[in-house]
Amino acid sequence: MNASSPSPAQNQASPATLYGGVTNRRVTVRDLAAAKQRREKWSMLTAYDALTAGVFDEAGIPVLLVGDSAGNCHLGYETTVPVTMDQMVMLSAAVVRGTKRAMIVADLPFGSYQESPAQAMRNAARLMKEAGVGAVKLEGGERSARSIELLVEAGVPVMAHIGLTPQSVHALGGYPVQGRGDEAAHQLLRDAKAVQQAGAFSVVLEAVPAELAAQVTEQLAIPTVGIGGGPDTDAQVLVWTDMAGMTAGRVPKFVKQYANLRAVLGDAARAYAEDVRSGAFPAAEHSFH
Ligand code: KIV
Repeated sequence: MNASSPSPAQNQASPATLYGGVTNRRVTVRDLAAAKQRREKWSMLTAYDALTAGVFDEAGIPVLLVGDSAGNCHLGYETTVPVTMDQMVMLSAAVVRGTKRAMIVADLPFGSYQESPAQAMRNAARLMKEAGVGAVKLEGGERSARSIELLVEAGVPVMAHIGLTPQSVHALGGYPVQGRGDEAAHQLLRDAKAVQQAGAFSVVLEAVPAELAAQVTEQLAIPTVGIGGGPDTDAQVLVWTDMAGMTAGRVPKFVKQYANLRAVLGDAARAYAEDVRSGAFPAAEHSFH
């Protein structure tokens, strides 16, 4: 090895690019830190099952979030509040099994970490040991800093989540934009700095004004992941069912739909039913003799 060639350790930590750069191992927190250094933006999608996660992994999405949005996007609840640890462990394990390269981050659901840092640790350990995820995410800024600190000290990579925190839907009275006005903006900045100080490796900024998200991104050394935070965060995340057009009804303003899977699947189901009704399916090539 000469002086200019990277050491094996550097190769491990800093592939040339995040998107398409790491192929033989999972993406790590060091890769995400290196991406912030070189200002490479990256994408995150939610996933709740092995099959869909495998598609996103093959597409090169570097980080997949087993979000507790599974509550409303996969399990049929109205909000994320009813989601349990057992459900998160089951869904997360499926996503880990269906992927090879992406870093898998799993949400700690409502009620699984707010009691105490010890409760957060117990449940984060379940997600890492039973499901095999590489990191956990929890909601809250200053209010969650002590738990983040303990998890990080214990070797658990933590993604924080501030701004609109959907587990507080009943306290917030819906899903309003956060951080509007001087006091709220200052609180968001304090929350962002508190989770960084506590050791979080990145932070989700949900439903905050784009200018404020840009300011937070500028002031933090860790990557910010925006959802409804405008174009200047280090990364973006979308709920996959929104992004791919599976969600029924209206989607939030910040969603861009890249496909209309709901229509595609509906058409396929109707065509199949019609073929069965008419006798066109199964045809000779689908039959054993
Ligand atoms: O649960 C989830 O999907 C999330 C994203 C919206 C960031 O927390």
